[in-house]
Amino acid sequence: MSGKQKVIAIDGPSASGKGTVASRVAAALGFDYLDSGALYRLTALYARKQQVEWTDEAGVAALAENLPAKFADGSVWLEEEDVSAQIRSEAIGMGASAVAQLPKVREALLQRQRDFLTEKGLVADGRDIGSVIFPDAALKVFLTASARVRAERRAKQIGLPCEGLEFDRILSDIEARDEADRRRAVAPLRQLPDAQLLDTTELNIEEAVKKVLDWYHNV
Ligand code: C5P
Repeated sequence: MSGKQKVIAIDGPSASGKGTVASRVAAALGFDYLDSGALYRLTALYARKQQVEWTDEAGVAALAENLPAKFADGSVWLEEEDVSAQIRSEAIGMGASAVAQLPKVREALLQRQRDFLTEKGLVADGRDIGSVIFPDAALKVFLTASARVRAERRAKQIGLPCEGLEFDRILSDIEARDEADRRRAVAPLRQLPDAQLLDTTELNIEEAVKKVLDWYHNV
């Protein structure tokens, strides 16, 4: 592991289970956990609250630069408000995907993400953790699952049936966001040549966590 950072980078598309797997791996190893998507979601929410358009690159970047956010006790705070639930809405997910396409916004959030790494070690999930934020991560994982399985997981999470109009909308939102994340010019979502592929279509959470821990112990 010499020359490598004490980081496990877990990148992959939305609703792939990255967050659950990453936070459990972090707990098992005593590492900190960074949900980088939450920073993009917070930026989108903050812009909306400040009435800055998601397409206004300079305006949104200025907000991202001084994002008054903190992560504490499993909750996400913006200024003095607990926004843990608000940032999880599909609308804010789409906003996050929009502001994430702006290079100045990504730049504004770069150092903030790197600052999460301490001597404890870090598990970070996102889209560009292994490619841009921590290119020297000790382990890189590309975690994915079929779009249908991801939509089913999201539906169950919010208590909806896995069929019908609402479900179709969840599935098409996921597909639209995948497409936007893959096609964008800056830091597009892709599997790196040095990343391990973890397809969880047929795996449960415990199996996925075990796989990552096994890889990490063998690097
Ligand atoms: O992972 P999550 O679904 O919370 O991320 C929300 C959006 O933020 C993604 O669709 C993606 O466009 C963006 N994102 C990103 N880079 C990251 C994490 C998230 O571009 N490292």
